[in-house]
Amino acid sequence: MSRIAIYPGSFDPLTYGHVSIIDRGLHVFDKIIVGIAINVRKTPLFSTQERIDMIRASFPDETRLEVDTFEGLLVDYARQRNCQVILRGLRAVSDFEYELQMANMNRKLDDTIETMFMMTEESHFYVSSGLVKEVARFGGDVSEQVPDHVEEALVAKFEVMKNESDAITSEE
Ligand code: PNS
Repeated sequence: MSRIAIYPGSFDPLTYGHVSIIDRGLHVFDKIIVGIAINVRKTPLFSTQERIDMIRASFPDETRLEVDTFEGLLVDYARQRNCQVILRGLRAVSDFEYELQMANMNRKLDDTIETMFMMTEESHFYVSSGLVKEVARFGGDVSEQVPDHVEEALVAKFEVMKNESDAITSEE
């Protein structure tokens, strides 16, 4: 039986922290499905398709990696896709409580699916998609936190947003 892990998240955008967990996860599992959660309550910076493309572009030749989206409960999607494991990365202590709650809740919902954590590499300990977006929005350098193509996409996205807001201001 092949060991399949689901690596769920928002990936808005993909960071080197995510890339590292996927790389290392591929040493342990036969296949990893990156599951982009569609959350109607969150407004992501990048569209679902943009996030799928960014992840695929980071692993162009990796046949054991699939990128997909899911709506609803993670455990339902995991069961449907025959994933035995939910893979999550753990950074600082601050992640712990949230992750513990999710892992426990997911186990209550389905105790046949195990959550497994990988400690984020030291160099990516402080990398988060949220901080990356904030820094990039104000023109800061995020080249050490995200792959080149993601950095380019961030610059382009904020440029478009700036032009749109300038256009609205000049109309007023
Ligand atoms: O990258 P994130 O935003 O921390 O990922 C959170 C995610 C997507 C793993 C979590 O919100 C999730 O699993 N959402 C799907 C809905 C669900 O199953 N919620 C109950 C989890 S206890």
